[in-house]
Amino acid sequence: MINKRIEEIKLHGIRELFEMADETTINLGQGQPDFQPPSDVIEEVHRAMLQGKNRYGSHFGLMELREEIARDQSRYGTPLTFENVLVTVGATEGLKIALEGTVDKGDEVLCPEPGFVVFQPHVRFARGKPIPYTLRKDNGFVPEIEELEERRTDRTKALIVNTPANPTGAVIPEKRIREISGWAREHGILVISDEVYDRFVYHGEHRSFLKHCDDLVVVNSFSKSYAMTGWRVGFMIARADWIRTLATLHSYTVACPPTPVQHGVLYAMRRKSDFVHNMVNEFRERRDYMVSRLRQITGFHCGTPKGAFYVFPSFDLDITSRDLALELLKEGVLTAPGSAFGAAGESHLRLSYANSMDNIRKGMDILERVSGELFE
Ligand SMILES: Cc1ncc(COP(=O)(O)O)c(C=O)c1O
Repeated sequence: MINKRIEEIKLHGIRELFEMADETTINLGQGQPDFQPPSDVIEEVHRAMLQGKNRYGSHFGLMELREEIARDQSRYGTPLTFENVLVTVGATEGLKIALEGTVDKGDEVLCPEPGFVVFQPHVRFARGKPIPYTLRKDNGFVPEIEELEERRTDRTKALIVNTPANPTGAVIPEKRIREISGWAREHGILVISDEVYDRFVYHGEHRSFLKHCDDLVVVNSFSKSYAMTGWRVGFMIARADWIRTLATLHSYTVACPPTPVQHGVLYAMRRKSDFVHNMVNEFRERRDYMVSRLRQITGFHCGTPKGAFYVFPSFDLDITSRDLALELLKEGVLTAPGSAFGAAGESHLRLSYANSMDNIRKGMDILERVSGELFE
């Protein structure tokens, strides 16, 4: 028998639409690059398997990979060692153990809304209470201190932040990162920062909470940066003593991260390649095209997102985002309704430009036609 708490946590509203799509549908709903990992990285995984690297490894992750991640993440200005790194089964597992390992029953966790669909369920799995804080379109979907302060109570244990953000594509500027970090420090609030889109920043460099925050867990991943969402490798950065404790929880949950793909990721990190750079350049072009098309569609309003690979236009058509997404799906294009990301996402659609220019063009043509008909 399934307990009530778990039974009440429903699968998110994007999945429902995904299941209705077929192979002819143009997929502007997906949260993953349409690229494949570099072929020599795939070969490295293959080689690792042929060399017998198919067994359980350290639950902390491969030592050389932890060292490489520590070196890479130290670029934000806080010197890190392998002891600050845990290799996880994607950022999804990282989020789960970060919350399960820190939240006590009834603790409140501030979650961005609109925000990634996994945040609030994970708080509930950890027996905590998700408290949504609103990200406002007028402020570029960047968290505001006044809003956080309004939601804060004696039970506020943690704050989840996400930069660059899903679904909005917003990037939190360094000044705001510093302010949020100061606010969290003042009130003894743990910051859980999801930075899985750190490579997908279209103007300047990624800014990390690592530089400004003390009581911090960063979750990150190779899923998006190396286009390997199915390989399931991510990582967590935190104080060494926290990593040791959370590693035990992680060990009981997954035993260890997958061994052969960690060798592939290590190889990918060490080799010099333009793979990520080229993918980001390609995405920038697609983003610009999508934004320019959306701005020409009556009833749609769209800013230029600074990161990730989503645009999050609002619309003033007399229809819910779910019904609009269903209409679009009937016409052959899959999008994600804004309401799937929380009530604050209503009257928006999330469109992913992690698809070919040709498909984006066709998808935009359909959106233009459908919204034109709705506007008549
Ligand atoms: C904000 C955010 N965090 C985490 C994840 C999950 O990443 P992973 O594949 O590493 O579990 C996603 C995937 O869409 C995401 O958008």
